[in-house]
Amino acid sequence: MDQKRHQELVSKANKFVAEHMNEVDKKLYPHYHLTPRFGWINDPNGFCYALGKYHIFYQHYPYDAKWGPMHWGHATSTDLVHWEHQDIALAPSEDYDRDGCFSGSAIEYDGKLYVIYTGHKVLVEAGDDSIAREVQALAVSEDGIHFEKLGVVIEPEDEGIHHFRDPKIWRDETGLFHVVFGACNLKHEGEIRQYTSKDLMHWDLVSIVKEMEDNAFMYECPDFFEVNDHKWVLATSPMGQAPVGYTRNNTSVNSWQAGTFDGKKFTPESKLYEVDRGHDFYATQSTATPDGRRIVIAWQNMWKLPFLTYGDHWCGCLTLPREISYKDGHLYQKPVRELQSLRTKEYKVSAANSCLKSTIKTLTSNAATELTFSVKPADNGAEQYGIAIGNSIRLFFDRQTKTLTMFRCDLNATSYRALELDWDKEHQLHIFIDNSSIEVFIDGGHDTMTTNFFGTDHTVTLYATNGQAQFHDLTIYDLERPMFGA
Ligand code: FRU
Repeated sequence: MDQKRHQELVSKANKFVAEHMNEVDKKLYPHYHLTPRFGWINDPNGFCYALGKYHIFYQHYPYDAKWGPMHWGHATSTDLVHWEHQDIALAPSEDYDRDGCFSGSAIEYDGKLYVIYTGHKVLVEAGDDSIAREVQALAVSEDGIHFEKLGVVIEPEDEGIHHFRDPKIWRDETGLFHVVFGACNLKHEGEIRQYTSKDLMHWDLVSIVKEMEDNAFMYECPDFFEVNDHKWVLATSPMGQAPVGYTRNNTSVNSWQAGTFDGKKFTPESKLYEVDRGHDFYATQSTATPDGRRIVIAWQNMWKLPFLTYGDHWCGCLTLPREISYKDGHLYQKPVRELQSLRTKEYKVSAANSCLKSTIKTLTSNAATELTFSVKPADNGAEQYGIAIGNSIRLFFDRQTKTLTMFRCDLNATSYRALELDWDKEHQLHIFIDNSSIEVFIDGGHDTMTTNFFGTDHTVTLYATNGQAQFHDLTIYDLERPMFGA
């Protein structure tokens, strides 16, 4: 490994970001979501609590707001909410990762921070990433910031395997290291493989944790972790599955399943379902906190959509961190409690002021806002009611389809996603708006909808069309903007 060349390439990328970050046009740039100071971001990588703080790395192209040879960007935090940008951790520098340091994960061991990631090498002409040689590689850091590459540790058993990536690592109570990652086997079927190691350098294939289901030819970015009740969650990002009704309508879909794990075999106990029902949510990665919570974070964007901030020199962000719990066969995601520290002002809207009759009411024009309220659809006669953000978003209860619908109405990205609701129940909404992003937690995190939008009018309006709607316990918070000038 040529460590000197790696450090030179990392320094070159850091210098480029420092010299160009002032060119970023911040009209749509997140105020409290994490995004790089310049350039492109996709999957979260190496999410962990190590050496006394939280670390999040991410797929990063620092030279443009487009996907390119992947580096690992890096930020740290003590509270999961206020992030400090760090130097880029990895740059493609060796033959085995010459076309990108693809996704992977991290673990603290022996007082050092280890990352295991996929080295990506295109075998045909540059640009065709489907014919590639992918291997799992290791790197280590003593200070948690600067990394030394340790080389390839897992190679495909068979030549002709082109998708072989995204290792997620953990260590069990006996001290054994495990990784799971996705592969497309020679029959062109997706599977999730598990390898184990005693020393991080030597790995053995021990089982196929998941085989192809429903035409998935590859499972990107698997994550595998224990939640309460000794259940295990297998989080996957399958490629190649077709839409079904209101679900799986994004280019790539993040799916989860809960079940049991005997060390080799995963036995599902819940159905495989789409984790987030909005437009922009992919490639989740989770970690455990020192106080025992399981927190997940995702890439807030979607492959093959118009990336409308290219010209602004940034593209994409990570979602807010979410706490996972398992109850009655279902996984719940809640915004981490640390997010409450962002609240700077609280407004409560009276019952009289939150009862609309074919009317609208402006709530705020703050681009960093949190809202909570509940509705009982059975009590409301209006045809549609909910909130609007400028001319970009309508999030509404729809009497005809009995759904909560996220309608992105920006004319250059118009599209909706809908979530079927039990119309006889009361439903709680917890909403975070951040300049060009909206994350909605429904019924204590039973469902979520995450979407980006592209208009600059941030007026948040409550509305009810063709009838009456009552919004209960409506509270609005102004939020701090820690990432806007970071
Ligand atoms: C998922 C993914 C991963 C890969 C990375 C490349 O979004 O395609 O499978 O490692 O992005 O940036």
